[in-house]
Amino acid sequence: MNNKKKIIDLSLGDRINQVFYIKEAEFRLRRDGRAVDGFLKISDSSGEIEAVYWDIADKKLKQIEKMQFAQIEGQVSKKKSGGQMQLSIKSIGEAPDSSLEGLIPSTKLDIEQLMQDIDSKIATIKNQYLRELLLSFFGDPILRERFKKAPAAKKLHQAYRGGLAEHTLNVSRICESICHIYPQVNRDFLISAALLHDIGKIEEYQLDGIIEHTDEGKLIGHIVIGTEMVTEKIKQIKDFPEDLAIMFKHALLSHHGKFEFGSPKLPSILPAIALFYADDTDAKLNGIVSLKEQNKDIDKKWSERVWWLDRPIYLAEHNIIEESTEDLAE
Ligand SMILES: [Fe+2]
Ligand SMILES: [Fe+2]
Repeated sequence: MNNKKKIIDLSLGDRINQVFYIKEAEFRLRRDGRAVDGFLKISDSSGEIEAVYWDIADKKLKQIEKMQFAQIEGQVSKKKSGGQMQLSIKSIGEAPDSSLEGLIPSTKLDIEQLMQDIDSKIATIKNQYLRELLLSFFGDPILRERFKKAPAAKKLHQAYRGGLAEHTLNVSRICESICHIYPQVNRDFLISAALLHDIGKIEEYQLDGIIEHTDEGKLIGHIVIGTEMVTEKIKQIKDFPEDLAIMFKHALLSHHGKFEFGSPKLPSILPAIALFYADDTDAKLNGIVSLKEQNKDIDKKWSERVWWLDRPIYLAEHNIIEESTEDLAE
């Protein structure tokens, strides 16, 4: 029996036995301390689904922790709380050795097109030092390949291969709009900072397999890593103005906007403030769009509490807005 199905096509009661990519795995000890249950997020190229594995043997748990891909047998059921679909795992084992690249969640956009769009932006930068700085990254074939593979985040937004390219381009486009409204903001500076603001993520995350921080990512983080990378490149650019270097590094270091979000400095020049809001706008909007996407088949008005907003989100607003929009058009 061929019971292979894409996650997006799964429906209640389906039985499956196939290979998935393990995106996240969390193990919880039951209150009585007698058993451990596994809560996994598994995915294929079409999407992701929660999977639960009740009462895992100790040996199995250690095995799962090391797995990137797994052969999973189970049945689609409904979660008691919330009513989302989930997979109840019957058995889980090593995936047979074959090319599993296709299972890694990736951007739905064309990555080569995204890179071309970034190149076109670079071509519009008139400041020769900033353009040279950008080309020292995006013109380097090794860094370029790493950039293409990187996610923008582990969970919150664009958490998939190519996510960094998507996010970087979005932020630069938001910055472009800001420059139209506020011509006082230096466009060359802001767009260049937008294109490099998260460059440290190519070292912060593992680029093969599961999205996980590297040791360097955990210990130093992309803000400082990125600033160090930029400092190194600037050193190789002849006569790069020192003050410009300080302003540029300030924009990178301050782009998270708050100490508690990992920025060692608060944005204190106009383009750095613009960059912080542009970055935050894309991260938050993308996070909400994917939250709505994940909840689209669930018949409930409110999401669970969203940890990065510290509140639940009302999910059914589009029906109300669309209905009233039709009325207006009549
Ligand atoms: Fe960042
Ligand atoms: Fe960012």
